[in-house]
Amino acid sequence: MALQHSRVVQLSVVGLALLAASLFFKKKKPSPHEKYYSDDYYTARDKFRAASDGKGKTYQLQITEKYTTDILVYPGSKSKLLVVISGVHGVEGYAGSAIQLALLEKFKPTGKDHPTVVFVHALNPYGMAEFRRWNENGVDLNRNYLSKEEFAELRQSDPNVNGYVNMFDMLNPKYVPNPWTDFFYAKSIYYILKYGYLSVKRAIVCGNYHFENSVFFGGYELQKSHVLLTEFLKTHIDVDAVKRVAFIDIHTGLGPAGFDTLMVEHTGRDIMKTKSIDDEFRAHAALLGDPNDSASSGYDAVNGTAISGLCKLFKNSEYNALITQEFGTVSSLKVFRALRAEAAAYRIAKEDRKGYDKAVRDVFYSWKDPEWKTSIVERGIRVFEQMYDSLNE
Ligand SMILES: *[C@@H]1O[C@H](CO)[C@@H](O)[C@H](O)[C@H]1NC(C)=O
Ligand SMILES: *[C@@H]1O[C@H](CO)[C@@H](O)[C@H](O)[C@H]1NC(C)=O
Ligand SMILES: [Zn+2]
Repeated sequence: MALQHSRVVQLSVVGLALLAASLFFKKKKPSPHEKYYSDDYYTARDKFRAASDGKGKTYQLQITEKYTTDILVYPGSKSKLLVVISGVHGVEGYAGSAIQLALLEKFKPTGKDHPTVVFVHALNPYGMAEFRRWNENGVDLNRNYLSKEEFAELRQSDPNVNGYVNMFDMLNPKYVPNPWTDFFYAKSIYYILKYGYLSVKRAIVCGNYHFENSVFFGGYELQKSHVLLTEFLKTHIDVDAVKRVAFIDIHTGLGPAGFDTLMVEHTGRDIMKTKSIDDEFRAHAALLGDPNDSASSGYDAVNGTAISGLCKLFKNSEYNALITQEFGTVSSLKVFRALRAEAAAYRIAKEDRKGYDKAVRDVFYSWKDPEWKTSIVERGIRVFEQMYDSLNE
């Protein structure tokens, strides 16, 4: 029996609508690495603890009443050491945590004299739990690893040496910015036109040692996370026996989405001379502060990074490889807009940040994007392998 013409039209319209809807709501295929990711700090910590169980020696550093940094040590050679750190910048720790979990499952130390490997999970656990880049004292841990003398020197130096004071009011509004009336992008363009993009970036990323509770504040003294991790390494690793040391510090928020820039510290450049790296590694690598690299530029005047500070413990080391693996998420302006608004909300009403905290999470952790999640874990494993192999050369 033939359908009536109007019925055919009706069915086609319904069919087309269903097709359109299914395309619109089409779920992307989940990442094969989904299970390594967590939505909150406690889940990530539980997974790390469960995966560490029986693998090596486990430890916890109590950073605040509620939050710990968790450590797993795979004992190995006394002279070779690889340290993999996540969550120096709190909220950025979701990517690093996933890489660490994948490594705990896939990595098996091999060879007779294999390197000792230390996994440090959530060095800034407060920030990871509360979706902040700063720690419990509002300090940026990656500008904070300095000696008393260095803090004193920086505190006495011109606060505007990298242009922070020029930007102060823009960076630290006295109100909680309303996205509709704040004109954030217009203001940013004004500053970029006035001072130049690189100067604005430098002012921001180099931070300051003068204004408590401002964004990118480096602190007045070494923070508890660093104090406890330093004590830990001195206690559990024979620091004087280490001859070859490598650090991987995993971050997010800068550079093209899902792509990792390998920022090489000036004091940890030895990796670039090894056979363990390939052209792909070189294509991702940029010396910290390289003006020609979009992610690494502006970092030339940064002080007190976590890995450069920690590396100083190994006074007898003849080989130092220091890498910040920085995975891109969204545009720098979007990242900065979210950070600035959340910091203002936190200063004004810490307990009620009105969703600004989740906005910070979303610019540092692309949790809805399966391709991003896949790329993070795969590149994390790859770079780990290369850094590990370099210690055996
Ligand atoms: C950056 O690029 C310019 C022009 O290509 C070049 O002259 C300069 O040496 C590069 N700088 C670095 C640090 O690679
Ligand atoms: C901070 O970094 C700059 C640029 O690398 C350097 O010249 C300066 O000596 C550093 N200051 C301290 C106190 O480490
Ligand atoms: Zn970071």
